Amino acid sequence: MDEKLDKVRNILKKYNQEHLLIWYNKLIEQKREELCDQILNINFEYMQQLFNQIKQKKEFKGCEIKPLPYIDKQKISKEEREKLEKIGIEKIKQGKYAVVTMAGGQGTRLGHNGPKGTFELNVGEKTPIFTLLAKTIREAEEKYDATIPWYIMTSRENNRSTVGFFIRHNYFGKGEENVKFFIQNELPMVDTNGKILVDEEGMVKQAADGHGGIFEAMRKNGIIDDMKSRGIEWIFIAGVDNVLAKMVDPLLVGLTISNNHLAAGKSVVKRNPKEKVGIFCRKDNRPSVIEYTEITPDMAEKKNENGELLFGESHILCNLFNIKAIEQIAVKNLPYHSAFKKAKYIDEHGVIVVPEEPNAYKFEAFLFDAFEMLEDMTIMRVKREEEFAPVKNAEGEDSPETAEKLYIEYMKNRK
Ligand code: UTP
Repeated sequence: MDEKLDKVRNILKKYNQEHLLIWYNKLIEQKREELCDQILNINFEYMQQLFNQIKQKKEFKGCEIKPLPYIDKQKISKEEREKLEKIGIEKIKQGKYAVVTMAGGQGTRLGHNGPKGTFELNVGEKTPIFTLLAKTIREAEEKYDATIPWYIMTSRENNRSTVGFFIRHNYFGKGEENVKFFIQNELPMVDTNGKILVDEEGMVKQAADGHGGIFEAMRKNGIIDDMKSRGIEWIFIAGVDNVLAKMVDPLLVGLTISNNHLAAGKSVVKRNPKEKVGIFCRKDNRPSVIEYTEITPDMAEKKNENGELLFGESHILCNLFNIKAIEQIAVKNLPYHSAFKKAKYIDEHGVIVVPEEPNAYKFEAFLFDAFEMLEDMTIMRVKREEEFAPVKNAEGEDSPETAEKLYIEYMKNRK
């Protein structure tokens, strides 16, 4: 251990992060070992690089940005639709389709004590979000007489309670072998001086590395291999918090296959130029999504000849990937974006600080940055009221209240 500790000390000295051992003497032996391992696993050069990038604003100047062509689901003829659906149904029936739910986020805006998927919505009776999602998948399994494996990405923080929830619900009758969990990667949080934070327990303060961490996490946790061994070809990936996500959609599969694409995304029409959603576009001839924080007012307001917003296809984090695309993406690095957050920590005097204002940076990769690694992708515009009911905030817009209403309404109207 002494040797290990010396190694740790040397590294920390080199990178001016010696405060990370401030709580070391108060830790039990096992935690000391864990802390040393945490530190040895940090790529300090890379963390420095990420910190230096924080102030650099993403620039689109010089990039050619065009709208990305989309297909409006409502405008597909009945014959065409049946033909495409048949292609998709065949894949599902052959067991070549899986669903991945990304549930590694912290859900800070919702403020629920536990994984977001365990939050109960009042949709006639109080039902946890995971139960609503399971119902969607179970109905599809019944409809297509198929098994649809369900993979759930968690974080170190919420993995145990997520798995426990599924055990208590008997894996929603899917069988333990068809529900798999995997934990995403984490990155240290840093303060405004580039110092890595120490958490309330004296360990390195880490946070999940964003939904873009999914590809690497799938690779490292053997999920891609598991899918391949089952013969899975098409994978639908969505967030845990859209209770109307149509996770099993043969039309999208058929459309993507007939377009000869390896990935697809669903879009809904952006409500107005100021709506806080990312939009699909083609950047330097590659599919891409521009975040609402990064779009210029000029671009956001621009209309096409039909009077619609030129960049009006909102990305709703409902995407389909061929396993080949996932394999390609999973060996490359996605860029990290920084977010300024409130984070409890132990300061250099050993005092626990509970900040009232944001004080630290968290680094996150975004799933949609992977689109730029593809030559093209299929975009299908769907109806918001049929496929998008996000639970983000505790109240107001995109809250449990709005999602409950949308869900109840959809269930009432669906054929
Ligand atoms: P959001 O970006 O809305 O984050 O995630 P969040 O964690 O749910 O909520 P806030 O921002 O802390 O309030 C969109 C989806 O991506 C997943 C989330 O669980 C959600 O389903 N996600 C996000 C991850 O799986 N991992 C992450 O690191 C971040």
